[in-house]
Amino acid sequence: MDKLTQADATSHDIVADNIDKLKTIFPEAFTEGKIDFDVLKETLGEYRETREERYNFSWAGKSKARRLAQTPATGTLRPCPEESVDWDTTENLFIEGDNLEVLKLLQKSYQGKVKMIYIDPPYNTGKDFVYPDKYADNLKGYLEFTKQVDGEGNKLSSNAETGGRYHSNWLNMMLPRLTLAKNLLKDDGVMFISIDDSEAANLVKLGDEVFGEENRISLICHKSRASVSNDKIISPNHNYILLYAKNERTIFNLRSKFGLPPELDGFDEEDENGQFKFVPVDGPGGAAKGNPHYTFLGVTGYWRFSEETMKEKYDAGLVQKVGNGLQQKYYLEDAKKTRKTTTTWWDEKLYTSTASARLKQLMDGAPFNNPKHIDLIRKMIELWCRNDGDIVVDFFAGSGTTAHSCLEQAVTNDQDIRYIVVQLPEPLATEASQKVAAEYCDRIGKPRNIAELSKERIRRTAAKIKDEHPDYKGDLGFKVFKLDSSNIEAWDSNDENLEDSVLKAANVLKDGRGELDIVYELFLKYGLDLSYSVNTHEVAGKQVYEIGAGSLFICLEDHITTDFVEALIKLYKSFDDEAAPRVVFKDSGFKTDAAKKDAESTLKDAGILDVKCL
Ligand SMILES: C[S@@+](CC[C@H](N)C(=O)[O-])C[C@H]1O[C@@H](n2cnc3c(N)ncnc32)[C@H](O)[C@@H]1O
Repeated sequence: MDKLTQADATSHDIVADNIDKLKTIFPEAFTEGKIDFDVLKETLGEYRETREERYNFSWAGKSKARRLAQTPATGTLRPCPEESVDWDTTENLFIEGDNLEVLKLLQKSYQGKVKMIYIDPPYNTGKDFVYPDKYADNLKGYLEFTKQVDGEGNKLSSNAETGGRYHSNWLNMMLPRLTLAKNLLKDDGVMFISIDDSEAANLVKLGDEVFGEENRISLICHKSRASVSNDKIISPNHNYILLYAKNERTIFNLRSKFGLPPELDGFDEEDENGQFKFVPVDGPGGAAKGNPHYTFLGVTGYWRFSEETMKEKYDAGLVQKVGNGLQQKYYLEDAKKTRKTTTTWWDEKLYTSTASARLKQLMDGAPFNNPKHIDLIRKMIELWCRNDGDIVVDFFAGSGTTAHSCLEQAVTNDQDIRYIVVQLPEPLATEASQKVAAEYCDRIGKPRNIAELSKERIRRTAAKIKDEHPDYKGDLGFKVFKLDSSNIEAWDSNDENLEDSVLKAANVLKDGRGELDIVYELFLKYGLDLSYSVNTHEVAGKQVYEIGAGSLFICLEDHITTDFVEALIKLYKSFDDEAAPRVVFKDSGFKTDAAKKDAESTLKDAGILDVKCL
């Protein structure tokens, strides 16, 4: 016999009961669990003439979310060489932070530079966490968020279905991120997004709005598991991967170069033109619409080519009668030139269970649930990124599968692929689902958050590759950056007004911030690639940072004199670059206004006009 619980004993909620009854009869009058009274009235035959009817996709908070993509970032990315691998040489980036703020910060440096973006965002299943953007101050919200585990170790935010804005919250989170992500893509760049049934329909509509419906290339079906759930009416065993191009026309014109290489089995015959196999000459499906119908060598059918072409091929020895049909020679060399991909990715090696097992082996433990399979992401890289220097971005990095896939793809194909991955230091709670991961962080002596797990995974991947390929010379390192508030107290965050903001700034360094922090903040302000190395030079006894082969010089020392400025000009002239560099000093680095003016005019005489001070 069941016990009478407190819930049973409380009085019956009549309103909730009525709402439930209404919902059963009029499901169309409910949106995100709430009654839409206008729709209810219409369902009952009462039409309002003024009700606007047009095709649109709308939800609570949409315009605010759109605005959010446009508000400037207020933070910066602080370099962490001590957590990085091969800091001085690597071009790969691991950025710890909320991806919205990070995407904003990356706009200047990486706009139009990224070949492929893959993301695997929270699917909004009700159990996974959806980042709560704070419209008022995004960065403040982030800094608060990173501390958001209560005294018992439970996480404070989630997006439960009962919250009333279930789909809206998710869409508000996704809209600004997709908008900013699209800006990063090259003209021939593409973006893949994994999703499941919970938000697939909304994601397609959102993606169409951000990228344009004409740029939707495909909704790929990815078989993700073999097992069956007994608690479902039909057990789902696939996810979707939604693919958008920045510009469908560009991709379409290059389509013969894209796709996956074909299976090259069965080319067992050989003639003077090389290895070949016979393939049927009839059109797809035999009586394919539009294929010519005629009789050749006594065989009647719908054929791939005209009778004239058939005869030419026959005369050249490329077509022959085999049994009751006609067959043509298909050469291995031609097969190698064709690349094709279909929309069903059904390969069992792409299962999530296999991915989990591999990750467990690499990490000596199982700190992350349901990672994507490396070969799944490698398949996407193989499709689109085959040039040296191609940049792959993943701003929902999770356990770091995309970074791992780039490394494996690079070593297998001896190709230079760069990655930029972003991951929130999402605190690991002590709830059952994350307990193992939290304890894993304790074991490796790191703070309890997901970013630590992914960094550890990438480090282990690099070490494994080094071990298995001792002669490999490719890039196995990564530079770590962390999202934080600006290093400069009074810095106006508006990128457009660089001059104003730089000149107005009063205090240079906040407590606890170093010169390298400032140097990288300037990288972002000036739109430089964060992978450029920072060289230091001693100029007239002072330290000068030089970036991008003499394109930016930064000196944060005091007592700047004309002698120093002349020595700096000499240094600049030692670089081949024709373009005049940009130079940044500290405002307080000049003893007097006259010294500052002197420096400015000496630099101007040398053709250096872009001179700023902090
Ligand atoms: C579904 S998981 C990605 C799993 C990943 N594909 C893998 O194979 O491991 C989504 C990840 O996005 C992270 N995330 C969620 N919101 C974020 C945000 N605003 N900024 C950065 N990362 C975020 C979560 O912490 C989570 O680890």
